[in-house]
Amino acid sequence: MTAKIVPVDAVHPDAGTISSLGDALRAGDLVAFPTETVYGLGADATNAAAVAEIFRAKGRPASDPLIVHLASVADLAEVTGRSLAESGEVVQQLAEAFWPGPLTLIVPRGPRIPENVAAGRATVGVRVPAHPVAHALISAAGVPIAAPSANRFGHTSPTTAAHVFTDLSEHIPWILDGGSCTIGIESTILDVTQTPPVLLRPGGVSVEAIEAVIGTPIIHHERQAIAPDEGAVAPGMLLSHYAPRARLLVFESDDVSAMLARMEAETRALIEAGNRVGVLIADENADRFRALGAQVVASLGASADLESIARSLFAGLRLLDDAGVEVIVTRSFRREGLGLALRDRLWRAAGGTIIPV
Ligand code: TXA
Ligand code: MG
Repeated sequence: MTAKIVPVDAVHPDAGTISSLGDALRAGDLVAFPTETVYGLGADATNAAAVAEIFRAKGRPASDPLIVHLASVADLAEVTGRSLAESGEVVQQLAEAFWPGPLTLIVPRGPRIPENVAAGRATVGVRVPAHPVAHALISAAGVPIAAPSANRFGHTSPTTAAHVFTDLSEHIPWILDGGSCTIGIESTILDVTQTPPVLLRPGGVSVEAIEAVIGTPIIHHERQAIAPDEGAVAPGMLLSHYAPRARLLVFESDDVSAMLARMEAETRALIEAGNRVGVLIADENADRFRALGAQVVASLGASADLESIARSLFAGLRLLDDAGVEVIVTRSFRREGLGLALRDRLWRAAGGTIIPV
């Protein structure tokens, strides 16, 4: 099998194209499609055989549950067995504030959703994506769509159709190409079956924004990751996730100039030791690393603009891998707003190590 890439306009996708890929989903095929966060690998969430194909195509362990995507919050009952009005005040407040958008809620699993979607759990993740192509495709399919990020398991998440093709071209039939994802990191995952709600993964909606809407603090473990052999305490939240091929060194400090000086020294030492080094850095710092003779310096955007950094992060890691570097030197960002999600992804991509300066 070689995946076929089907281009569509990101804002006004062609109705005929969308309708035929909606038919493919309903017939049990896999279709990769853009969302505002990252590309998803979709299957009919009510069809256990189609869902099993997702795990096969990604090389994903069956213990790692999937997120179900809806065209509209009005379809919530198909996933949970309960309408929005029956889902409690917190779900109503969050759905009203953040759907469509990059927030996944963990809710009770209804009878239409087979066990393998949720890795056997009594709960299921659900979100309503904001991307016009995702919305149109799910509407056309007429069924809820289970979709993990469209990468091989453990690899960097895809933010373009080309990234999906690189990872999955041998394993899936269709890739809907709607250009680059506008947010660039995955949805925030919040377990609202617990009181207070528990943050399972920081992402496109900030903790601060969630707390402002529900009016109470959520539970948020700074370190929610588990070692790969500890079992499914927090499924999918493994260290060594989002990983590039190259060794990744992530530096962090409140003192930015000290951090940059240390990164320069490390980069220089790595180059002198014969390594091909790539640097992933904010725009305003790129020139000083180019001057060191790093193989490739990828710019993330202005360090003050965390939205731009998020949009460029995964693409930057893939670009450096494609350039064949052996080591990637990069930095973390302040731990507020989107910075929390950026730090989480960098930390996991580096196998659970951040180097304090
Ligand atoms: O932005 C996103 O969320 C993207 C796009 C495609 O929507 N999807 C995504 O899916 O990131 P994935 O499969 O890469 O991450 C889903 C994670 C799982 O690894 C697990 O940690 C969590 O969601 N999850 C799903 N269902 C769960 C459940 N019932 N209980 C706890 N965690 C769950
Ligand atoms: Mg993923």
